[in-house]
Amino acid sequence: MKRAIIIGASSGIGEQIARDLAEQGWTLGIAARRVEALETIQNDYGADRVFIEQIDVNEPMATEALDRLVAKVAAPDLFFYASGLGGQNPQLEESLELRIVKTNCEGMVRVVDHFLNYVKQESRYTVKHKAHIAVITSVAGTAGIGTAPAYSASKKMQSTYISALAQLCRMKKTPVVFSDIRPGFVDTAILNPNKHYPMCMSRQKASKCILKGLKRRRRVIIFDWRFVCLVAFWNLIPRWLWERLTFVKN
Ligand SMILES: NC(=O)c1ccc[n+]([C@@H]2O[C@H](COP(=O)([O-])OP(=O)(O)OC[C@H]3O[C@@H](n4cnc5c(N)ncnc54)[C@H](OP(=O)(O)O)[C@@H]3O)[C@@H](O)[C@H]2O)c1
Repeated sequence: MKRAIIIGASSGIGEQIARDLAEQGWTLGIAARRVEALETIQNDYGADRVFIEQIDVNEPMATEALDRLVAKVAAPDLFFYASGLGGQNPQLEESLELRIVKTNCEGMVRVVDHFLNYVKQESRYTVKHKAHIAVITSVAGTAGIGTAPAYSASKKMQSTYISALAQLCRMKKTPVVFSDIRPGFVDTAILNPNKHYPMCMSRQKASKCILKGLKRRRRVIIFDWRFVCLVAFWNLIPRWLWERLTFVKN
């Protein structure tokens, strides 16, 4: 019997991951702000297997709610962080930029660090049974995107932060492995319904690819092959040229 905690399970990719793991028989602790959406998942799979907790990652109280969830799903095999806020903001509307930075950066640090500190003192995690912390970042973190400054920068921060934690855990011999999940476009509420997104995939397909990568404990998960090629090419573009590519709108 496997156990997972999913933060940001009320919609989109997090919800799909929760449903797919529940179908596979996992016991889950799921959290987000919209409790009704969490309750729907709980009703579908049973309150004996799906535990819920309302968590706003931007609130300091989030860590207490996380403690309650961890008490219900003790020593989870997987800690999956899917909470996030996105959006283009070429007008640089200040409150939106700041909300994105707060949720994606401060919120993630608060919750992921709190869980990592729990791992350190939980004796059920060992070299043979490591905790697995997975965070959804984005391919958008590859470079600064002019139409989405806070979003692309916050995603870069998330990837860099996970890399730092991975190194720290090796230094301290903390029994944990990390996965940095970098989706391209996935058909969820985070995308603007009035816009066309190239190579956009369904959340069902995205979840399948993510779970496959997690099973192999891949450190960085990019899917599908088209985005793997795109990111490889993107990384080759020098900064002076990238900043002159004004046709990039997404
Ligand atoms: N869809 C894509 O194309 C795409 C591509 C690359 C990366 N991503 C990343 O994937 C992650 C999931 O997004 P999604 O596409 O699945 O969109 P989504 O359907 O909007 O899901 C976002 C999730 O984050 C939660 N959330 C937002 N603010 C929160 C807060 N303050 N506290 C706790 N939970 C919060 C939401 O729950 P509540 O509102 O109920 O709190 C929801 O469950 C995000 O990090 C996003 O950046 C998405």
